[in-house]
Amino acid sequence: VTDETIGTLAAIRPFSFPVVRCAALTPGSDGPLAGIVGDRPALLLVSGSVQRHYGAQIDQLAADPALNVQAVLPVPTGERHKTLTTVEAILHRASERRFPRRGVVVAVGGGILLDTAALAASLYKRGVSVIKVGTTLLAQVDAAIGIKCGVNTRDGKNLAGAFSPPEAVLTDGTLLQTLPIRQVRCGLAEMIKLAVVADATLFELLQRHAGAFLAGPRDNGSARRLIDRAITGMLEQLQPNAYEHDLQRAVDFGHTVSPSLEAATDYRIHHGEAVALDCALFTAAAHLLGVLQRAELDQVVGLLDELGLDRWHPILEDEQFLDRALTAAEAHRGMALNAPLPAGLGTLRFLADRADLPLDLLVEAARLLRGSA
Ligand SMILES: NC(=O)c1ccc[n+]([C@@H]2O[C@H](COP(=O)([O-])OP(=O)(O)OC[C@H]3O[C@@H](n4cnc5c(N)ncnc54)[C@H](O)[C@@H]3O)[C@@H](O)[C@H]2O)c1
Repeated sequence: VTDETIGTLAAIRPFSFPVVRCAALTPGSDGPLAGIVGDRPALLLVSGSVQRHYGAQIDQLAADPALNVQAVLPVPTGERHKTLTTVEAILHRASERRFPRRGVVVAVGGGILLDTAALAASLYKRGVSVIKVGTTLLAQVDAAIGIKCGVNTRDGKNLAGAFSPPEAVLTDGTLLQTLPIRQVRCGLAEMIKLAVVADATLFELLQRHAGAFLAGPRDNGSARRLIDRAITGMLEQLQPNAYEHDLQRAVDFGHTVSPSLEAATDYRIHHGEAVALDCALFTAAAHLLGVLQRAELDQVVGLLDELGLDRWHPILEDEQFLDRALTAAEAHRGMALNAPLPAGLGTLRFLADRADLPLDLLVEAARLLRGSA
């Protein structure tokens, strides 16, 4: 038998979705959800916090004659529930209600709810539409607007996932008013990540307005400018590389050792907090490698300090941990380190090769962060 290609199947599936600032949970035919969903059956997937804080609005949407809501399904959140078991439970409940292929999942919650709900939507009957409504700052500026979704398995964070574009993303700053301050800090950490390596203007905006944003209000003019700038910056980063064919990504700044840090601390350190620690570590490393000035390192650390985000954790001085974390990062990035390093505020360079980042230099970077008050 000679090897022979009998045929080929090829298709390109382009996507495009809007990120819309609106009063996301407004009912009625003028409401943003009715405008997008139309008469398609909808399944509302909501987190416990959303039920607690916005239960009345969710009930209104459920009973809204302008929408065809089949059910409201509460979904357990917290990293421990971000699992295939939770996804399967969603699939089961959707199937019980005979949710059809043309139905729309409306996911309302933080990054964990969105990641879990979007993965379930991408799997249910091989994929139904999903609209994401982020209710944390981190979700609004990051988790909601990418096309990635996923859950944790015992082998790692977000290990089971998919690239699955949403139909639309709705951003509503009024939902941030109930957000605990710790969670606001987590979102600011993702904004700092982007600012340090890709957007000096966003960094200045954060220096000027993030303190007031943290204290509230979180839906005034300067708050919206901050969030909109972070969202457009994120979209610009994703636009040429949505499927991550290029493994050198600016938005991986803050994400080199942070996934291992979260897992190693049993998720007691939240995602955004781990991102801030990773940003601080690699900013200090950039300084020690001679690509970033001390004054710029001080500005980054100064902003983290001002916002109450930790810049040091004892595990960052543990060579064994760092070794494991870098190995995991390499595995994720095509067997090369491809670590973004700030090379001035708003610009970066990539450290492709792990050999260029000795572990003792990282430990020294951590010590520098511990020492410099
Ligand atoms: N898919 C992506 O591209 C992407 C990007 C970044 C982060 N993520 C994922 O996002 C997750 C982190 O998301 P997160 O920081 O939003 O955490 P989260 O979803 O756990 O939400 C944080 C906390 O805030 C509560 N909460 C949510 N909205 C609230 C509101 N409006 N008022 C009061 N409380 C509210 C939640 O119940 C939770 O206790 C991680 O699992 C991370 O991996 C995904």
